Amino acid sequence: MSATYLGIDIGTSGVKALLIDETGKIIGDATAPAVEPVRPHPGWSEQNPADWWTATLAAIDTLSKSHATQLAAVRGIGLSGHMHGATLLGKDNDVLRPCILWNDGRSAAECREMEAALPSLRQLAGNIAMPGFTAPKIAWVRKHEPEIFAKIAKVLLPKAYIRLLLSGEAVEDMSDAAGTLWLDVGKRDWSDELLAVTGLNRSHMPRLVEGTAVSGHLKPEFVARWGMSGTVVIAGGAGDNAAAACGIGAIRPGEGFVSLGTSGVLFVSNDKFRPNTNGAVHAFCHAVPDTWHQMGVILSATDSLNWLSKITGQDAATLSNAAEAQFTGPGEEIFLPYLSGERTPHNNAGARGSFIGLSHSTDQAKMAQAVLEGVTFAFRDSQRVLHDAGTRIDRLLAVGGGSKSKLWLKLIATNLDMEIALPEDGDFGGALGAARLGLCAATGADPKSVMAMPAIKTVIAPDKALSAAYSDQYARYRALYPAIEEAIRD
Ligand code: XUL
Repeated sequence: MSATYLGIDIGTSGVKALLIDETGKIIGDATAPAVEPVRPHPGWSEQNPADWWTATLAAIDTLSKSHATQLAAVRGIGLSGHMHGATLLGKDNDVLRPCILWNDGRSAAECREMEAALPSLRQLAGNIAMPGFTAPKIAWVRKHEPEIFAKIAKVLLPKAYIRLLLSGEAVEDMSDAAGTLWLDVGKRDWSDELLAVTGLNRSHMPRLVEGTAVSGHLKPEFVARWGMSGTVVIAGGAGDNAAAACGIGAIRPGEGFVSLGTSGVLFVSNDKFRPNTNGAVHAFCHAVPDTWHQMGVILSATDSLNWLSKITGQDAATLSNAAEAQFTGPGEEIFLPYLSGERTPHNNAGARGSFIGLSHSTDQAKMAQAVLEGVTFAFRDSQRVLHDAGTRIDRLLAVGGGSKSKLWLKLIATNLDMEIALPEDGDFGGALGAARLGLCAATGADPKSVMAMPAIKTVIAPDKALSAAYSDQYARYRALYPAIEEAIRD
C-alpha cells in the first residue's frame, strides 16, 4: 500500500477525519458528532475540549474499521479546527475551564478596554479587537475569573489542543494564530506588545510553524492503535477557513470561497498582508508561506436555519425545500441573521436577529426563504466591505453543509453577481485541506501543486432576471440595522 495522508477537521458540530492517497484523491472519511456548545448566558458559547478529543478518536477509530489498510499507511496528518477558541491549560496541561468559542460575544467591554490601553492595537494586529477573537476572551477571564487566569500556563486554539494530545507538542500554525489578536500578522510572529495587553507573554503561547511545516509526530501509542508504522508527521495545519481554502485550491490572489457552515465566511486569498479594519474585515495569514487572506465573517449562517428548524420542528432540508418550492423572488419578510451578534460588517456582539414584514400570510416556507435571504444579504455586506478594502474577488467556490441548498446558492450568486462553483463534494473543504497540508509536511511537496481545485459539479450563475428586485430588497435589508442598532448595541 502506498502512503496515505489524514486530515482531521475539528468543527463546532463534529469532527471529520478524511484520508487521501499520494495523488490527493479522497479514499475515505468518517465523522463523529460533537456535543453541541452550551450557552450559559445569551451570547455566550462554550464547549468542553474533552468532547473534541472523544469525537476525534471516534472519527479515526471509525476509519480504522472501514479503511484499516489505508489508515495504516498514513505518513502525514494535518489538522484543521474552528478558530479563536480559548483553551486554557494549567501547568500540567490540565484544562482550566470550558473553551470560550469563536461565536461567544461576552467580551465586548474588554475589546474596548484593550483598544484604549493600546491605541496602536488595530495597526499592530491588522484587525479590530472583536469578542470572537482569543485575546479579549482572556481579558474577560482575567477580570471575571482571576483565580483561573492566575493558573494559565498555555493558551491553545482548539486544533492545537488536539495536536497536544496526539503529539505532546504545543504548536500553532500561522493562519489560526492570526485569529488570536496576539500575532503580528505581517511579520508572522507573536507580538510582545499585543500579548502584554492581556497580561501574557511568549511563554504562554505555543511555538509557531507554517501550516505546511512539520509541527511534531504522532505519539507511538496512536501509531500502534491505528496500525500505522514508523514516524507519522503532523503538519502545522490551519484554522478551518484557511484549511477549506487549501481544500478547494484557493491559495492565489483573488481566489476564494463562500462557506455555508455554522458560520458563514467570504474568504479571499491575498499576495500580501492587506489589513483593513473598516467594516470589520478580517486580515489573517494563510496556511501556506508568504500568503495572507481576508474574510468577512457571519456568525450564524446554517445556524440561522437550524434555529428556525428547532422552533418549527421541521428539519433544515425540509425548510429549504419548502422555500424553494414556492420561490418566485424576494418576498415581504426580511430576516436579520444576527442570532449570536455579528462580526462583519457591524462588529456588534450585542446584535440580535429580527424578522421584519411578517403578515397573516407568512408561513414556514416564507420564513425559511427570508432566513436564506438574510444570510445571503450578510454575504453581500461582506463582499461590499472587501471591495471597499480594494480587494478583487476572481473566483468563488461554495463549501459547507448549507451549499446543498440549490436555492441558497442561486440567491448568493445573484446577490454577489458572481458565478459560484460547487465542488463534487461540497462538504470536504477543511478536512481535505488539512490532509493536503499533512501531505506537504510529510513529503515536502510544493503546496501550489497539491492545493488543486476539486472537480466541479455545477456552476451556479446569477439570475439576472432577479438582480434588480434583489438590489431593492438588499437596500431595505441594509436600512434595517441602523434603524434598530441603538436597541441592540453591545
Ligand atoms: C472565523 C470564525 C469561524 C470559525 C468557525 O473567524 O470565527 O468561521 O472558524 O469554525
